[in-house]
Amino acid sequence: MAEPLLDALGRPLGSLRVSVTDRCNLRCTYCMPEADYAWLPRESLLTFEELARLARLFASLGARKVRLTGGEPLLRRDLPELVRMLAHDPRIDDLALTTNGLLLSRQIDALADAGLGRVTVSLDTLSPERFLSLARSPRHADVLDGIEAVERRALGLKLNTVVMRGVNDDELVPLLRFAKQHGAELRFIEYMDVGGATGWSADEVVSRAEMLTCIGAEFGQVEEVAEPDSRAPAERFRLPDGQTFGIIASTTAPFCRTCDRSRITADGTWFLCLYAEGGLDLRAPLRDGAGDEELRQLIARHWAERQDRGAELRAQAPGRTPLYQLQMLRADPHREMHTRGG
Ligand code: 5AD
Ligand code: SF4
Repeated sequence: MAEPLLDALGRPLGSLRVSVTDRCNLRCTYCMPEADYAWLPRESLLTFEELARLARLFASLGARKVRLTGGEPLLRRDLPELVRMLAHDPRIDDLALTTNGLLLSRQIDALADAGLGRVTVSLDTLSPERFLSLARSPRHADVLDGIEAVERRALGLKLNTVVMRGVNDDELVPLLRFAKQHGAELRFIEYMDVGGATGWSADEVVSRAEMLTCIGAEFGQVEEVAEPDSRAPAERFRLPDGQTFGIIASTTAPFCRTCDRSRITADGTWFLCLYAEGGLDLRAPLRDGAGDEELRQLIARHWAERQDRGAELRAQAPGRTPLYQLQMLRADPHREMHTRGG
């Protein structure tokens, strides 16, 4: 076994997020608040063969986890085909999908048969009326159907909730009860000032501390689950009845020191951090006929130089306001969370 590839802060290249499309069929206010967007040109999108080749190269450098994201990944035609190609690589032992759930129930069988291991569904509210204003879609029932479909196929299931003050912060307890009923682990995510979140304000962030107070008031003593070797962004907690849940405190308590994640956009731009200003273009060398060894070295060199700790630096910024103004997002859509992969 070769030496693990470490970045400049000693972090391994462990987990790869692959955004398969920048398009989405929802318009969550924390992610896509605008009325219209510029999309990546179609011809710039990597084919499944190109994406799978990159994933194999990353696996050869130590990546063991691959997560498909978007935008909404299920909008990409024939996604199970890509899942099949990735599941084929024995080095990738954790293959997961993050989805908003709308198209999940009709695709779950093909995805599970292709070898998908785990699914994370975004679920910010249990109320269809709220969903209408939060995600600007009347299709809340489809999300719930999607969740049930994952349960039926017995794939690993997580639910992600972005908590926003005055929007859904009164649903922490009902969402935890819902997760328990569906055998899912719920993760509460602090509202982040990333990418397209132009409406972000510090007042709307509900901190990990506040969430724990609220949950403790309902369920009693909340115990922290010790996971000393974990590189996962969520800190995990246990309720008195044994139910576990996670909190991703990216805004108030960032975890950059252990971050082993990087992201490839649908057009093959490789970002080392959610907050990174720019990424490395892998599409050009791919399409210019670079060989595997050349690409591997390019990736390895870039990772070895990685010093990013974007969330920590943001957390130190005084008088924090949204990261980007609208015109900066328009100038380069790669800055958008829905392009970069949530
Ligand atoms: N803050 C926190 N999480 C976000 N996501 C997108 N935008 C934000 C934001 N501003 C994440 C959510 C969502 C996933 C697709 O992207 O976790 O569930
Ligand atoms: Fe919502 Fe995810 Fe779509 Fe963003 S990409 S609008 S978070 S469903």
